[in-house]
Amino acid sequence: MKIAIAGKGGVGKTTISGTICRVLARQGEKVLAIDGDPNPNLSVVLGIDKDLPTQKSLSTDIIERVEDGDSWRFQVKMPFAEILETYGQDAPDDVKLLIVGAPEQAGTGCMCGSHTVVRELIHSALASEEHASMVVDTEASLEHMKRGTSRHVDKMYMVLEPYYRSLEAAGRFAELAHQLGIKEVEAIANKVRTEEEAKAIEEYCEKINLPIAVMVPYDENVAAADLKGVSIMDYDSESKIVKAIESFITSLN
Ligand SMILES: Nc1ncnc2c1ncn2[C@@H]1O[C@H](COP(=O)(O)OP(=O)(O)OP(=O)(O)O)[C@@H](O)[C@H]1O
Ligand SMILES: [Mg+2]
Repeated sequence: MKIAIAGKGGVGKTTISGTICRVLARQGEKVLAIDGDPNPNLSVVLGIDKDLPTQKSLSTDIIERVEDGDSWRFQVKMPFAEILETYGQDAPDDVKLLIVGAPEQAGTGCMCGSHTVVRELIHSALASEEHASMVVDTEASLEHMKRGTSRHVDKMYMVLEPYYRSLEAAGRFAELAHQLGIKEVEAIANKVRTEEEAKAIEEYCEKINLPIAVMVPYDENVAAADLKGVSIMDYDSESKIVKAIESFITSLN
């Protein structure tokens, strides 16, 4: 299954993406985690040692301009398998990580902006059959889901928090995702502390017709793991957030 995780800044996209990857991988899935954020930090949530050197940086050179009938378009030069081989990183539980969100601007090659490069790389990943499961941690916009990328996403999850601006942003994003042709859009409610919060989220999501896939509780262990720079799975795999994600994954089967 290929899923994209979206939502407003700071709602928990990376924490949720990384935890989904680890839980899926522990269930035997071959998982590719794609970090599409210009400030990549999925590696820590996946459990990659923060003192290890980071991935060899992808550059805008990876893109070329090709003629397409009367017009032209950008495309990735290398087959995706080769990109993964060259740039991918191994993470615990056999998850593979590819950071695409922060390409270096090359002096030569296509004169395209980094947004184009990220979008084309995500497209190339999702269109490939390299891994059965792919999870894309997006930046806080849907910019990268354009150019038909949405066709290759089975589901997009809007992460939201129990406060009005976050709910409202999730609603807007969900509408945009539908416009981009993503058929299945659902919410992941995160950092839920009380019944009242859960109820407020339910009421809002019902009003805008956004199904809630899972309610993830506020979990102090997430902050504690973050402080140490380790994955929640390695900090305490019995944590509330892990339990919630596990039951969410089970509900998908
Ligand atoms: N369920 C949770 N319980 C407690 N804290 C959480 C939970 N989920 C995420 N957090 C905390 O919220 C903060 C933001 O999380 P995260 O970095 O995953 O969000 P993000 O949406 O990826 O942010 P950005 O938009 O900057 O990429 C972090 O400090 C993280 O520890
Ligand atoms: Mg993030």
